Amino acid sequence: MLKAKIAVLVSGGGTNLQALIDAQKSGIIKSGEISLVISNKENAYALERAKQNGIDALFIKKDADFENNLISAIEDNNIDLIVLAGFLVILSAEFVRRYDKKIINIHPSLIPSFCGDGYYGLRVHEAALEKGVKLTGATTHFVNEITDGGEIIMQKAVEIKEGDTPEILQKRVMEEAEWVILPLSVEKVSEQITKER
Ligand code: GAR
Repeated sequence: MLKAKIAVLVSGGGTNLQALIDAQKSGIIKSGEISLVISNKENAYALERAKQNGIDALFIKKDADFENNLISAIEDNNIDLIVLAGFLVILSAEFVRRYDKKIINIHPSLIPSFCGDGYYGLRVHEAALEKGVKLTGATTHFVNEITDGGEIIMQKAVEIKEGDTPEILQKRVMEEAEWVILPLSVEKVSEQITKER
């Protein structure tokens, strides 16, 4: 079976990328292969993680040619699936239409709560704590032209506890939800792509 070729787009630390790399090693991801990691931040630690694991790592500067350069990298590497793993750039409608049902995003809340423009990273957890919800979680979804608005693939709930800070909550959501459902979602969609061939 020819595996789906995966590009992971990142902007920061890359713990979700690490979860994907680990899942590939352990066999949770078996229908896809991480072929390329791309960051819009030159010093993103995620790029280091890629290199340490023998995966091609690319920095693409966020200038006027950003999306064209992104498309070139994706096409040159025959990428089948794009995974946004802590990628904090909003992609244009034109870009996402080009890769319909081929882009997955992970968001650190139970969509449709605490999502959309301006909700990223710690801000999502700050908003959940401000609202006083008792459950939050993470969501994987396909990317369309509406920020965090595409079809949901998987969700996992996480309990909010007395005394949580945004940082503590972020860590629990990552450990209990993000690092679990992102690899499972990537395998699910990769398997689908290989079957469609
Ligand atoms: C993760 O919590 C991810 O869900 C979030 O950014 C963090 C990146 O961490 N993404 C968003 O907020 C997207 N709207 P990582 O670089 O360690 O994977």
